[in-house]
Amino acid sequence: MRDAQPRTVYLKDYRKPDYLVDSTRLRFELEPNSTVVTSSLEIRRNPAAGEGLPPLRLDGVNLELVSVGIDGVALGVDEYTCHDEGLIIPVHRGAFTLEICNRIDPEGNTSLEGLYLSNGMYCTQCEAEGFRKITYYPDRPDVMSKFTTTIVAPRDYPVLLSNGNEIARGEIEGDRHFVTWEDPFAKPAYLFALVAGRLEKVEDQFTTMSGRKVTLQIFTEPKNIGKCEHAMHSLKAAMRWDEEVYGREYDLDIFMIVAVDHFNMGAMENKGLNIFNSACVLASPETATDAAFQRIESIVAHEYFHNWSGNRVTCRDWFQLSLKEGFTVFRDAEFSADMNSRAVKRIEDVSMLRTTQFAEDAGPMSHPVRPDSYMEISNFYTLTVYEKGAEVVRMIHTLLGEEGFRRGSDLYFERHDGCAVTCEDFVAAMEDANGVDLKQFRRWYSQAGTPLLEISDDYDSAGERYTLSVRQSCPATPGQPEKKPFHIPLKLGLLAGDGSELALDTDGTRETVLEITEAEQAFVFEGIPERPLPSLLRGFSAPVRVRYDYTPAQLRLLMRADSDAFNRWDAGQRLAFRALAQLQQDFRAGVELQLQPELMEAYRSILQQEDLDPALVAEMLTLPSAQTLAEEAEVIDAEAIIAARNFAEQNLAEALFEDLLETFRRLDHDKPYRPLADDIAERRLKNTALAYLCVTEKEEALQLADTQFASATNMTDSAAALAALVNRGDDQRAQAALQSFYERWKEDDQVVELWLAVQSSSPKRGSLEAVRALMAHPAFELTNPNRVRSVIGAFSNRNFLQFHQPDGSGFRFLAEQVIALDKLNPQIAARLVTPITRWKKYCQGQQEMMHAALQSVMDSGQLSADLYEVVSKSLKAD
Ligand code: TRP
Ligand code: ZN
Repeated sequence: MRDAQPRTVYLKDYRKPDYLVDSTRLRFELEPNSTVVTSSLEIRRNPAAGEGLPPLRLDGVNLELVSVGIDGVALGVDEYTCHDEGLIIPVHRGAFTLEICNRIDPEGNTSLEGLYLSNGMYCTQCEAEGFRKITYYPDRPDVMSKFTTTIVAPRDYPVLLSNGNEIARGEIEGDRHFVTWEDPFAKPAYLFALVAGRLEKVEDQFTTMSGRKVTLQIFTEPKNIGKCEHAMHSLKAAMRWDEEVYGREYDLDIFMIVAVDHFNMGAMENKGLNIFNSACVLASPETATDAAFQRIESIVAHEYFHNWSGNRVTCRDWFQLSLKEGFTVFRDAEFSADMNSRAVKRIEDVSMLRTTQFAEDAGPMSHPVRPDSYMEISNFYTLTVYEKGAEVVRMIHTLLGEEGFRRGSDLYFERHDGCAVTCEDFVAAMEDANGVDLKQFRRWYSQAGTPLLEISDDYDSAGERYTLSVRQSCPATPGQPEKKPFHIPLKLGLLAGDGSELALDTDGTRETVLEITEAEQAFVFEGIPERPLPSLLRGFSAPVRVRYDYTPAQLRLLMRADSDAFNRWDAGQRLAFRALAQLQQDFRAGVELQLQPELMEAYRSILQQEDLDPALVAEMLTLPSAQTLAEEAEVIDAEAIIAARNFAEQNLAEALFEDLLETFRRLDHDKPYRPLADDIAERRLKNTALAYLCVTEKEEALQLADTQFASATNMTDSAAALAALVNRGDDQRAQAALQSFYERWKEDDQVVELWLAVQSSSPKRGSLEAVRALMAHPAFELTNPNRVRSVIGAFSNRNFLQFHQPDGSGFRFLAEQVIALDKLNPQIAARLVTPITRWKKYCQGQQEMMHAALQSVMDSGQLSADLYEVVSKSLKAD
């Protein structure tokens, strides 16, 4: 909690650290309410930082200082200054050893940052600025130090872990024991980790490309030990992939993963000791859906990949966060694409980006991939830094090609190994390795907002000449009224009337990347024998919006014939958008709704394309979500969106009932479960068909769901059937399913979270009243972020209908929960509040109620810095 307004930190104020820490020795004596931390730091004046001996400033928050000493001599209380955010110590020598002793309270720490307890297990989370809640330290990523850590604990905490290699262990009188760990790699404090508990482990081994053997261990509470196999498998696949694709080898003799139930994010890449949210690591076929299996595969890989992109080469300051996150998300996305269906992975990622990141970019917290100021850095672990940051790296990959990109990454790792660097260094390595100039491209790091490409074309049949005219613009964002043109790779192909691909030049190239650099630019293609249909922004080659005036017939041709699977899907989305926009307009005008027959036919023909990847068919059959429609709307009219989408879904389900039934039956075979791409694809299509069939609420359809619910042997089918029964049909059936599901799975945390989310995201059963009832259920816990996300998060982000009740009750409820949560866990409170920060985009009535809810948060008393930043910036938005 803060005294006054939190201060703003600016990138332009960056200064090199005054002092370096060559080695860090830590000793922890673990006690739930009074853990004693003793540190011994070898400190030296940073020769690169200037003259003289300025005072040493250490960060420290919520610490009880016991003693400070220098080179073995204790300091008196008048020899240093201890304030709310740290310690200031006058310095008389250029090098010295600083000894500090302080106390902390892990049990009282509900922020899940620093050292805390989760179900009796001690664990840490230090990124971004959590280490200062453990001990006094220069808690900034450009101070890198070699850590040696001793953990002392009662013997009923048999497992004591930290970074690096175990170098000593022993017994201590009075039922205690200790383990000492040494990490040979210098690292910033944010990569420090400690775990202590009664844990079990599974163990495996990996032989690196140079023949070194690495021990792999995954630790969990005993009851979850059977759920580690998939993560272990994913880890080995990721280690192999990083060797093959990037030439990167693992560097310690041991790599550990620990599953923790209380965790603010997905997982954390601490050196040699990754800590995971249980939901992002534990899985078995009976308890985890295909989506969970895939999420685990990608997060395990993401954290592993950080060992190079993040740990060996780290960030100079937190403004550079995307240096490690954007690059690592790009790496994990490519890994997942190689392990599964590339097109489907791309579609999933892009539809998420367009719905959520585009909204962020257009909202009050809009910021560049490299922000230039923040109040609380935790608020900048955003879709922009992660997902748009990954798109920026992908564009470099597109511009340089596979081999050029690899040359660039090799140079980057070689040049900067062991250093804390900037986004600028990354781009410079890419340039230097390839002899290219990315000067204009750098604007992707500094300018916020989603660029718009308005494209028109002209065909001269006499000259067989086709001209494509591109105009780029980017809306104003907070603090950035005017934008300069971006350097945008636009991948495209040209289709003939029969759907075949036209040659773009005399070499017969059929796909090219245009480099857009001007505000307005024209591209001429010669020797084009007929008026072509452009397939634009293939594979979503840049994070932009494209406007081009396609006719419905042209979109249907792209859907059927484009060689780029992503663009086939995208054409379908455009067609659906159009139909849904028309329906929204008709709804507002009070005109009777009618679904365009073309859309119906387009969807029918998707179902009939049996040669397509079933997962792609499933994606193509899915209408844009209400959230996506909201993002696309000029002004959000929640009622109209809901009415339009329901109407379209209903009509499609009824018109295509027989085709959907056919598809469901074809795929409803009883194969043993494997979480492999082909099988996942079939289940995905089958369950998409089931959901549609149940939209009709016909007895025949609901019985299929009932049967599947009763007989499913894997969680994907079981959860899909449960959702169908909860979202459709009569109450009795829904309640019976919910009850038997809960009875069967109440001991399994991950399944219980799914059970909560199915209800709170259901338009039919997730009323505010029902959500409040879930919060009173024993399974709910306000101090557990996964439970909060499953109930309050699912309700306000995924239950468009109930959250947007016309009386504004959903908004007031969210405000009330955010206020309560802020006292326990500010990071989660600041994230949860997002839906009501977008008030500006809503039509008037909704806007006023959302704004009032947001204002009530501001007026509720002293807010955390996290929540204050988000709420104050959102209230101010103009
Ligand atoms: N670096 C983590 C990642 O791989 C992010 C993270 C984990 C995090 N836990 C956190 C960020 C807590 C802020 C606070 O993406
Ligand atoms: Zn990451």
